[in-house]
Amino acid sequence: MKFFALITLLALPLFAMKPAEDPQTVLIMLGAPGAGKGTQAVRLSEKMGIPQISTGDLFRENLRNETPVGQKAKSYMDKGQLVPDEVVLDMLFERIKAPDCQAGYILDGFPRTIPQAEALDSRLKGRVIAISLEVSDEVIVERLSGRIVCEDCGAPYHMVASPPKQEGICDRCGGKLIQRKDDTKEVVLDRLKVFHKQTEPVKAHYQAKGSLILIDGAVSKEETVKQLDAMLK
Ligand code: AP5
Ligand code: MG
Repeated sequence: MKFFALITLLALPLFAMKPAEDPQTVLIMLGAPGAGKGTQAVRLSEKMGIPQISTGDLFRENLRNETPVGQKAKSYMDKGQLVPDEVVLDMLFERIKAPDCQAGYILDGFPRTIPQAEALDSRLKGRVIAISLEVSDEVIVERLSGRIVCEDCGAPYHMVASPPKQEGICDRCGGKLIQRKDDTKEVVLDRLKVFHKQTEPVKAHYQAKGSLILIDGAVSKEETVKQLDAMLK
């Protein structure tokens, strides 16, 4: 796969030092709420044949199943605040132990704080590639007010910009499309504040390691796809 060629060129010395259990490909999707992390991560997952792991989707699944993790996360998510690091880390590290993650995976919405990034660093001795989708706050508010997502697989659509083939039905898995509770304007503005304060510093963390790729996410979905594919060839 062409992507492996890029990683080899960029990071051969680091990969040579990786322990055997480290996966070959770890991509991180960074960006504000609504920047397009899920949209691009789902597509890359299908293209690369590795799972997309969205911590937001994992929490929503826990909420639906009324698990203790879901109960802990609910009040934070409803207010647009981050769920405490220890809850996120336990859930995420359990998920990436699964056999489907052995070859690699795409993290969507994780890490979101410096302690989360450091915890991931200490677990993965090798290099990861962090992709930041850059989108202004104004565009974000417009996008999220039109978003609908699959209740089952989490795939995102937009009522105008990227509607499903059949109204109300997920193209990917046939699940029902719904509007997320945290997509009201008030909560979106709070999520943006949290993003700027707690998650933007994570970009500098990966930049310092030479692992950060910036992508213009404010252009059309197709344009974003082109930029990403060119970077990951
Ligand atoms: P999460 O589910 O991760 O939400 P988020 O980061 O706020 O991001 P979104 O899923 O809203 O946006 P997205 O970037 O995936 O955009 P999408 O592709 O859907 O997290 C929810 C909550 O869980 C958090 O608030 C927090 O409480 C908790 N949580 C999760 N992870 C956590 C962590 N690590 N630590 C602590 N707490 C955590 O696209 C948006 C819309 O735009 C869609 O309609 C899409 O079709 C459309 N669109 C996409 N790209 C384009 C484009 N280029 N042009 C036009 N439209 C586009
Ligand atoms: Mg998402």
